[in-house]
Parts: sequence; structure tokens; C-alpha cells
Amino acid sequence: MNQSRSVVITGTNGFVGKNVGKFLSKNGFQIVGIVRKGKKKTVNFGRVITSKTFSENNLVSKLKGCDALLHFVGQGRQTVDSDYEQVNVSLTKNIINLCKKAKIKKIIYISGLGVDESTTLGYFISKYKAEQEIIHSGLDYTILRASYIIGKDDPFSKNLQRQIKKGKVVIPGSGNYRFQPIFIDDVSDVVMKSITENLFSNKILDLVGPQIISYNTFVREFIGGRKIKIEKIDFESAYHDALHNKGPFGIDDLSIMIGDYIGNYRRLASLAQMKFTKYGEVLKSSGLS
Ligand SMILES: NC(=O)c1ccc[n+]([C@@H]2O[C@H](COP(=O)([O-])OP(=O)(O)OC[C@H]3O[C@@H](n4cnc5c(N)ncnc54)[C@H](OP(=O)(O)O)[C@@H]3O)[C@@H](O)[C@H]2O)c1
Repeated sequence: MNQSRSVVITGTNGFVGKNVGKFLSKNGFQIVGIVRKGKKKTVNFGRVITSKTFSENNLVSKLKGCDALLHFVGQGRQTVDSDYEQVNVSLTKNIINLCKKAKIKKIIYISGLGVDESTTLGYFISKYKAEQEIIHSGLDYTILRASYIIGKDDPFSKNLQRQIKKGKVVIPGSGNYRFQPIFIDDVSDVVMKSITENLFSNKILDLVGPQIISYNTFVREFIGGRKIKIEKIDFESAYHDALHNKGPFGIDDLSIMIGDYIGNYRRLASLAQMKFTKYGEVLKSSGLS
């Protein structure tokens, strides 16, 4: 059914790009993946091209005729060499120009759950600005504001696995703050529907799973039967470590955790009309717990 459809994926080497690309490829889509210049491709589907800024002129002819662009480049921790404005905002502007030049009419963007115009968090401000660029671009868009996306090798679980290897998992503060994890295969399905179904046209949706859980509960279930120490640390220590670039969390990771962001699952579920996976099943099927 989808054999004539072709999509461009930025951030193809990343967790979301890799998994969504594989899923769409299996579903008959032609994929053109763009990887960062100087980085090796780590995917084995579709055609892969390289770019540094997404503004090189030779890209246009390579992408002409594609139906949609899935913009999965992003970063949640900034450094002096690579800040949010540069990666999350400027590259998005370049991507929009690229879509226009290559006559790609649809863009799908993964933003963050908690992003809105009242946010004061630097990471969310950059995601909000990227959203605004997309909304006012004249392109058809679907913006997905994601909670933690989980599956084999997701960045969130990899962080927990690293802590487990060291013999102890840290919970900053009470651990009672909540989140709404969503399975990567469900994300792939939502992305596919966003490409193919008009109902997803020009919408901002929360990309959240069916269950709301506390960090405490998730960590305990993630550890499962393994004998691993859980250490509660106060936020002062957690932020101190983060500010000195130590410890398992970045500054913005911590702020997002205590933000206690909960999304509108019902709206997503009624639009997508699909069965979403519970996190316990993901932990088992992805070998995480
Ligand atoms: N995973 C989640 O739970 C989650 C939750 C909310 C929002 N999101 C958003 O979803 C998107 C994908 O996330 P992910 O989990 O797949 O993250 P990821 O695994 O870290 O992948 C991010 C991708 O962005 C690329 N990238 C970063 N900086 C770049 C730059 N300066 N130039 C070109 N490419 C650059 C990376 O390229 P390299 O491979 O070359 O490093 C990588 O392919 C991001 O926008 C993220 O903010 C993810």
C-alpha cells in the first residue's frame, strides 16, 4: 500500500531514527536517511546520505519527490560547542528551507512533553521555538511532544543499565514525580499514521503511553529481581553533580524529571485507533528488566 511513498529521516543514526526507519522500511516505504557528516552510518535500510548543516545545495536534488521529512535530530544536553539554539532551532530552520526547496510538503517533528509557551526551561524553549518555525512554515506538520520513549537501547534505559552495571541506581529526590513512557514500536506506528492519515495533519499531539507511573515504580520494575542498591539522593547533590558534569543526569534531565509532565493519552489513542503497549510488556520484550 505504501510502496510509492518515500520519506527522508534526519537523525537516522539515533535511537528514534533507527527504529522508525526500520519499521517504515518493513512497511514498504522508501527511506533516505541523512547522517551527520563525519559519522558512520549505523543503519542497514534505505539510502543514506550525509550533511553537516542540512543547507548544502546538492541535497535538494537527492530529496526531490519525497513525501515527508521526519526530523529526529535533537539534543537534550548542551555544551559550549553545541548549544540548543544551534542544534534544536537553527538546524530546524535549515530543514524547513530544505523541505521547501525539495518540494517536500510534510514534516514530522519530535518535540518534548512539557513544551509550551509558558516554559522557562532552556531545552523546552528551544523545542518551542523549533515548533513555532514549523507551524509558521506553511508545510503540513505533525508535532509529537514525547514523554520518555522506551525500547531496546533507548537513551533513558541505557542510563539505568549503566548505573546497574556500577552496582547502584540513583533516585534524585522523592522519586514520586511521574512520567508516561511510550514504546518505540508504538511511536513508529504513530509516525506512520502521521505520514499517511489526514487526521494527523497540522496537529500537535502528546506522544505518551497508556500508563502514568512514578520514577520510583519504574526504577523498581526495571531492576526486577536483580540485587541492585537503590540510593536516594537529594536534589541539591544531584544538581551539584550535574553542574560539574558528573553523575548520571544532566541539568535539564533533572528539571524534566521533577516537572512531572503528564500528557493527553486519550486524544492520541482516539486519533491513532491502535493498541498501545504497557511499559511492563516493553521491559520484558525488549530485555530491559
Ligand atoms: N528518546 C526520547 O525519549 C525522547 C523524548 C522526547 C523527545 N525526544 C526527541 O526525539 C528526537 C530523537 O531522539 P533520540 O532518542 O533518537 O535521540 P538520539 O539517539 O540522541 O539521536 C539524536 C540524533 O540527532 C543527531 N544530532 C544531534 N546533534 C546533531 C547535530 N549537531 N547535527 C546533526 N545531527 C545531530 C544525532 O546524530 P549522531 O547519530 O551523528 O550523533 C542523532 O542521530 C530528538 O529531537 C529528541 O529531543 C526523544
